[in-house]
Amino acid sequence: MDFALHLSTLLSVLTHCSAQWCYKSQYSCDNTCRDPSRWPGLFPDCGGLRQSPINIVTNHVQANHSLSPLTFYGHHNILNITVENMGHSAHFSLPSSVQVSGGGLAGRYRAIQFHLHWGVDAGPGSEHTVDGEHYPMELHIVHIKEPYNSLEEAEHDKSGIALLAFLFEESNDDHHHYNSLIEALGRVQNNGNQSTVPGFRLCDIIPPSHDLHDYYRYVGSMTTPGCEQAVVWTLFHRTIPVSNRQLVSVAQQAQFWTGQPMTGIFRPVQPLNGRTVYRSATSPVQPGLITVWLYVLQSVLGRALA
Ligand SMILES: *[C@@H]1O[C@H](CO)[C@@H](O)[C@H](O)[C@H]1NC(C)=O
Ligand SMILES: *[C@@H]1O[C@H](CO)[C@@H](O)[C@H](O)[C@H]1NC(C)=O
Ligand SMILES: *[C@@H]1O[C@H](CO)[C@@H](O)[C@H](O)[C@H]1NC(C)=O
Ligand SMILES: [Zn+2]
Repeated sequence: MDFALHLSTLLSVLTHCSAQWCYKSQYSCDNTCRDPSRWPGLFPDCGGLRQSPINIVTNHVQANHSLSPLTFYGHHNILNITVENMGHSAHFSLPSSVQVSGGGLAGRYRAIQFHLHWGVDAGPGSEHTVDGEHYPMELHIVHIKEPYNSLEEAEHDKSGIALLAFLFEESNDDHHHYNSLIEALGRVQNNGNQSTVPGFRLCDIIPPSHDLHDYYRYVGSMTTPGCEQAVVWTLFHRTIPVSNRQLVSVAQQAQFWTGQPMTGIFRPVQPLNGRTVYRSATSPVQPGLITVWLYVLQSVLGRALA
């Protein structure tokens, strides 16, 4: 009886694992769950040609004048949001009153949720890298294009999903607004657990909008299976400062569906496959260009005066 019970538990764990994808960090399921290199076997899109995240090579980025500053809606609204442990990460729900448009996006997009990607012990944890460098954490705010009512509908449109991404940087001081989010993660330790974060404002956890004029833009995918290639990515230059204590703590709160600590929740970077990464043209002009313009101005003025 006891043996049969154990056997059935073991079998259910095994089938559960083999049917599931996982991050590299989930070692005890190593032989049965699918780590990122084996996602394409279960989810063909994960092996596609427009996958995310990517490494951004700043020398190869193209300035683009259609990438004006984005317009944000509902970022100052005070909200009661729900956090849920999804088994592989934790999602914080957002209401459709939170929106974004402009910035070369194909219309208005409504928020559905945000989540974080982190490592362990304040080590590398971002999904995107810049010139090969990992950051300790990355925030993703997921939006779907206005006519759609669900992620599933938006996934069939090449630009159906707009993801806003922010990289974190370690700072000396706590970012106080992140403490309530980290505490909320501690209330959803197990897969499926939910909790409420009252009095939340999106503008409290991201830099002010006047600091968000500079960003990278490329087309890619969701970074978790099914890796749907329906995402317009916006990665802001401006980082979010959080303390070492917060970075260590965030990875100690929740557990994967397997019961292991939820750490190392990021997908490795994917090949660019010929895609262009653009940069908003309002980014600071390179000093070299200013020198050229001064030279042109000088020679034109010089000729006019001669
Ligand atoms: C948030 O929840 C509190 C009770 O916890 C309630 O008084 C308040 O009206 C709610 N706010 C919103 C915007 O729903
Ligand atoms: C600028 O970016 C848009 C995408 O937002 C793209 O369609 C367009 O071709 C780019 N323009 C140039 C000159 O690269
Ligand atoms: C969290 O999930 C576990 C496992 O399903 C369950 O036993 C527990 O009651 C849940 N806790 C809360 C606070 O919902
Ligand atoms: Zn993400």
